[in-house]
Amino acid sequence: MKKEEHVCVCHRVSLSKLQSYLQREKPKVASQLSECLDAGTSCGWCIPFLEKLHKQHVLGEPMDLTINHKKYVERRVAYQQNKRNS
Ligand code: FES
Repeated sequence: MKKEEHVCVCHRVSLSKLQSYLQREKPKVASQLSECLDAGTSCGWCIPFLEKLHKQHVLGEPMDLTINHKKYVERRVAYQQNKRNS
């Protein structure tokens, strides 16, 4: 995923915004990423990815998501459809 692409598609929060937030605020738990422009507070699709970024930050690893953004967005649509049908 490129830095300018949205991890939280609902709230249009990019990977670079999340990386900056993690470096600046050093949140203790991943759920605090919701304070970064409400990331993760709507459909919930991005929450596992927010958790992954938080874990990478805590471990001192490069914060990155190795997923194609087009596929990421397509999988989010399927996730939302499944959620609606359940
Ligand atoms: S993609 Fe983040 S809450 Fe929907």
